[in-house]
Amino acid sequence: MTDISKPILIDIIAGARPNFMKIAPIIHALQKSRARGGRLHYRLVHTGQHYDARMSGDFFTQLGIPEPDINLETGSGSQAEQTAAIMQRYEKLIAEHPSALCLVVGDVTSTMACAITAQKLNIPVAHVEAGIRSGDWTMPEEINRMVTDAITNWFFTTSKNANGNLRRAGIPDERIFFVGNTMIDTLLANMDRLERPAFWQLLALQPGGYFVVTLHRPANVDEGGSFDRMLTAIGDATRGMPVVMPVHPRTAKTLQEINQVPENINLVDPQPYLEFNYLVKNAKAVITDSGGITEETTVMGIPCLTLRDSTERPETVDEGTNELIGTDPNALAPALDRLFDGKWKNGKIPEMWDGNTGMRIVTVLEKLLTP
Ligand code: UD1
Repeated sequence: MTDISKPILIDIIAGARPNFMKIAPIIHALQKSRARGGRLHYRLVHTGQHYDARMSGDFFTQLGIPEPDINLETGSGSQAEQTAAIMQRYEKLIAEHPSALCLVVGDVTSTMACAITAQKLNIPVAHVEAGIRSGDWTMPEEINRMVTDAITNWFFTTSKNANGNLRRAGIPDERIFFVGNTMIDTLLANMDRLERPAFWQLLALQPGGYFVVTLHRPANVDEGGSFDRMLTAIGDATRGMPVVMPVHPRTAKTLQEINQVPENINLVDPQPYLEFNYLVKNAKAVITDSGGITEETTVMGIPCLTLRDSTERPETVDEGTNELIGTDPNALAPALDRLFDGKWKNGKIPEMWDGNTGMRIVTVLEKLLTP
C-alpha cells in the first residue's frame, strides 16, 4: 500500500546563471505547498557549471534561493568535459540517494547532462521551458534542448510556439503543460526591488539615455577580429550615447586581444540580478545575443536588438519588442536609426507571462506525483 504521508523528493537542477531566476519561483511555490502540508519536497542540486559569485552566488542571495543541498562542483571545461563531469557526479548522487523526479530548466549543459543521467536510472524527467527551438544546430544550447526533450516525461512550456514544436515531434498533449514563464515570475516579483548600480552616477547615466549591451555567444565573441568590428559598430551606431556592457567571463577572454574599445562603451563586471534589470528597465534599448534577456525586455517594453540570425523565442519578435539584427556589424546602424527616429514597435506581453507560472507548475506536479 502507498504510504500517503511519505515525502516525495524532487531534484531541482541548476548549473549556470540563466537557471537561477528560473528555479526561484518553483522553489518558492514548493515551499508554500509544503507549508500547506503537501508531500512534495525538493533537493536543490547545483552542478557548479557556473561558480563565480558574480555568475552564481549573488543570484541566490538576491532572489532568496536557499543554499543548494548538494554542489557537484564540476566547474569549467569543454562541452564534453562538463557534460561528463556532471553526469558522473549526479549519477553517484542519485544512485545512492534516489529522487522521485528530476526537474531541469532551460537549455544549459547541466540541463541535458542531468536529464540523461536521471532517465537512465529510471527517474522521470520534467523540463521547464521545454519545446523551444532555434533550428540552429551550431549552438550548444539547441543540442541541449533537443536531447533533453527527447527523454523528458513532462514538458512545461512558455509559449504556443513551444507546444507546436513538441506536438510536431509526436509528444502527446497530455504530457505538455502550457504554464508560462518562470523567468518572468522572477522579474515581476522583483520589479519594485530593482537596484541602481553603484557606477550609475560615475557614468552619468540618465533614464532613457544609455544602451545596455551583453554578448557572450561563441559565434559573436570567440574570434577577436569580428568581435572588434562589432564593438566598433556598436560604438558608432549608438551615436556617442553611453553604453554599459557587463562582461561575461567568456567575453573577457577575447577582450584581452582587443587593443581599444570605443570610448562610449563602458565595460563593467557581470551584474547581480537586481542591478542588471534596473539597467535594462531604464535603458534606451538593449543590444544582446542572449535569449532570456529578450523575454525580460519584452515584458518591460524596452526595445531589444538581438545579434543573432535565429531565435528559439519567436514570440519576443512576433509579439514583443525584440528584433533579429543578425551578426553583420553593418546591420546595426540602420536598425538603430529607426530607434532614434522613434519608429520601434511597442510590443505586448505574451500569454501566461503573468507571474504565476511557478504555482501552476507545482499544482501540476502535485497531481502527477501524488497518488
Ligand atoms: C553558459 C550556457 C549558456 C548561457 C550562459 C550564461 C551552456 C552550453 N551554455 O554559457 O546557455 O546563456 O552560460 O552565462 O551551458 N566561467 C567563469 N566563471 C563562472 C562561469 C564560467 O570564469 O562562474 C568561464 C568558464 O571557465 C568558461 C567560460 O566562462 O571559460 C564559459 O563558461 P561555460 O559554462 O562554458 O559557458 P557559457 O559561455 O557561460
